[in-house]
Amino acid sequence: MTGIKRVAVAGAGRIGLPIVLELHKTGYQVTVLTRDTAHLMKIPSDIDIKQVDYDSDSSLTEALKGQDALISTVAMSAISNQPRMIDAAIAAEVKVFVPAEYTVNSRDALAQAQPMMSSVVGIQKYLATKEDQITWFVINCGALLEFVFDHPVLLDFDNRKATLWDGGEGAISLSNFGLLARAVTAVLKSPTRVHNHRLMVHGGTITQNRALEIAKEYSAQPWTAEHADSQAAYSASMKSLSDGSASTLEQLMGAMLTAYNSASFGRCDCHFESAYTEPDNAWLGVAKILPCRDRGSYKDQSHGELAW
Ligand SMILES: NC(=O)c1ccc[n+]([C@@H]2O[C@H](COP(=O)([O-])OP(=O)(O)OC[C@H]3O[C@@H](n4cnc5c(N)ncnc54)[C@H](OP(=O)(O)O)[C@@H]3O)[C@@H](O)[C@H]2O)c1
Repeated sequence: MTGIKRVAVAGAGRIGLPIVLELHKTGYQVTVLTRDTAHLMKIPSDIDIKQVDYDSDSSLTEALKGQDALISTVAMSAISNQPRMIDAAIAAEVKVFVPAEYTVNSRDALAQAQPMMSSVVGIQKYLATKEDQITWFVINCGALLEFVFDHPVLLDFDNRKATLWDGGEGAISLSNFGLLARAVTAVLKSPTRVHNHRLMVHGGTITQNRALEIAKEYSAQPWTAEHADSQAAYSASMKSLSDGSASTLEQLMGAMLTAYNSASFGRCDCHFESAYTEPDNAWLGVAKILPCRDRGSYKDQSHGELAW
């Protein structure tokens, strides 16, 4: 494959903007695709911005003409809309496509069985039908530190509560926006080196027990911890999803999150690899994350420590 020079990024949001800036800094010719140019405030003036209609084949194909790669960073709610974008990329002869997902090991069959993964798995299946027409791979970066406090995955930071699966020694990979942006920039130098459509990169791994120690150290308030059995919780959650007893949106989300957490951290039959033992950091030249302790709030300080 000849060198990638022109890169389009679809959706310069929370994850996309740092990728756009890093690609630009590294010397790629970057084009941002957006539904509305009016609200894109933080894009340097020498980066191209193209307004597109994601429901229009011709709008997307026209915007993608001349691009070597397309990095999709669209919102989670837009993941399942990506087939049109993929078809347009192929029509415009884009060489490389990276779908929006940036998650755990989404190529692992047990991770793919997770209800929360259905939209990203759907896109991978679609891409598999196009693999003679475009090079594609997903980027598995684990949990992103900028989001780790928002949802009760590693720990429930809002309620200062830890649900420790099977003793709390289960670990996950963590990354942050900067590391992900450097990985995207690095992989575009040798996209064909990616094995089995999966790039794995992380800043490090952390167990629930270690995260709880750090959180307690920085919290002025007490934490509670409860122990949970992953096999029992996984089975109960999946049953509630299949027999309809989880019916409200809150119940559905709760059951999917419990299934995901128990399978990620626990040692049940459904456990999937969520702490990478052989990430691609070395060949990418992407270093692990170092801690930063320069800011004041509890979450910021925990954030810095978790990054260790
Ligand atoms: N590993 C993790 O911890 C983690 C956490 C959260 C998210 N993620 C993944 O990262 C990806 C990006 O997340 P994010 O939080 O950065 O997204 P975001 O900021 O919410 O949205 C990114 C961009 O998507 C575009 N967009 C929104 N709705 C769209 C639609 N219906 N069709 C097309 N584009 C739409 C918007 O751009 P315009 O308005 O300019 O068009 C928006 O700026 C998601 O796919 C998600 O799966 C990973």
